[in-house]
Amino acid sequence: MIIDVIAGARPNFMKVAALFAVQNEFPSLKLRLIHTGQHYDASMSGIFLEQLGLPQPTRHLNVGSASHATQIAEIMKRYENWVTQDRPDFCLVVGDVNSTAACALVCAKERIPVGHIEAGLRSFDRTMPEEINRIVTDGISSFLFVTEEAAIQNLLNEGHKTEEIHQVGNVMIDTLFRMLEKAKPLEYYKQLNLKPQGYAFLTLHRPSNVDNHKVLEEIVENLIWTAQELPVLFSVHPRTRKNLESSGLLRKINNHKRLILTEPLGYLESLSVFSNAKAVITDSGGLQEETTALKIPCLTLRNNTERPVTIEQGTNTLIKEDWNLYQNCIKRILEQNYLTDRENIPFWDGRTGLRILNILTKL
Ligand code: UD1
Repeated sequence: MIIDVIAGARPNFMKVAALFAVQNEFPSLKLRLIHTGQHYDASMSGIFLEQLGLPQPTRHLNVGSASHATQIAEIMKRYENWVTQDRPDFCLVVGDVNSTAACALVCAKERIPVGHIEAGLRSFDRTMPEEINRIVTDGISSFLFVTEEAAIQNLLNEGHKTEEIHQVGNVMIDTLFRMLEKAKPLEYYKQLNLKPQGYAFLTLHRPSNVDNHKVLEEIVENLIWTAQELPVLFSVHPRTRKNLESSGLLRKINNHKRLILTEPLGYLESLSVFSNAKAVITDSGGLQEETTALKIPCLTLRNNTERPVTIEQGTNTLIKEDWNLYQNCIKRILEQNYLTDRENIPFWDGRTGLRILNILTKL
C-alpha cells in the first residue's frame, strides 16, 4: 500500500518522523514523504529533515509563502497534479497547518482515504487559522488518530462515528523520546552562556500575538520584567522577527542583555535548550505538549488551548493576557512551587507511530 505522508511546516517534521522511524517494521507499507514547501528556510525546514533522519521528499511542491487562500490553493493545485500522476492508496496528514487541510481536501475529492494524525483538538476559537484547518481536515478524514481524551469527545460531538476514532497517543512525543538522548550531549545552552535550569526558553509566532503592535508591546514589556528574574532565550520565528523589526520593538529587546535572541533553532538544539530550561514561555501547540511530557513548567501566552490535557497535568498555564497571573507563575516557578505530581498521559509512551502503521496494515 502506497501512503503519502504530508509535511509542510516546521511542526510537521517531528510528527511525520515518528512514522518514518518505524516504517521498516511494516514492509507492506510504502511511505512517501510529500513536502509542500510551506516552510522553506533552511532553519525552518532543511535542518529538521536532516536531524530527524527523514528521507529526501519523494515530491517537493515548493509552494512558499502567500496569503492563506493563495497558499492553500497553490498546495492543492500542485498536490492534485502529483496525485493524478502517481496515485497513493492512502494519505496521512498531521497537525493543523495550511498544508494539512489542503492535501486532505485534494485526497478527499480524489476518493483517496485520509488519516488525520492529531485529530479532534479544538480551541473553539475560529479566529485561529489552525482551528479552521482542524475542523476542515477532521470533517473529510476517514481515520481520526487522537492524542488525548478531550479530542474523542469533540469528534463525537461533531457527529463522527466511534469506529473512525483511534486513540493512539502522540507522534510528537515518540520523536521527543527518540531524540532526547541525541540532544543531551549537545548542551547547546552552554554556547549561549546559559546554565541548566538557569533560564527560560521563549517562542512566539501566533498572528494573535505578533501581528498586533499593542499585544506584542505588552508581551515585550513582560519579557523585560522576566529577564530581570531569569535570563530569557528567545528563538525568533521569521514572522515574529519581521514584526519586531517593523514596530521598533527589536531595538528595545536588544537593550537587554538577559533577553537573548537566536535564529529559529534546529530540532536537537531546541530540545537541548528547552529540556534544560527552568520554564518555557510560548504560544506554540507542540511545546505545550513537549513540556508536559518532560514535566517542565510552561506558560502559554494564549486565551485558550486545544490541548487541555496539558493544563490538567499541571505543567501548563494559560496566561490569557493576565500579566499578574504570569508574574505569579514565574515567581512560583523560581520558588520551585509550581509543579504537582501527576500520572503519565495514556499512550504518550513513544509507540504511537507503531500503533498508527499497525492500524493501516490491517486495511
Ligand atoms: C505556520 C502554521 C502554524 C504553525 C507554524 C509553526 C498555518 C496556518 N500556520 O505558521 O500552525 O504553528 O507554522 O512555525 O499553517 N516565513 C519565512 N520562512 C519560512 C516560513 C515562513 O520567512 O521558512 C515567513 C513568511 O514570510 C510568512 C511568515 O513567515 O509570511 C509566516 O509563515 P506561514 O507559513 O504563513 O505561517 P506561520 O506563521 O509560520
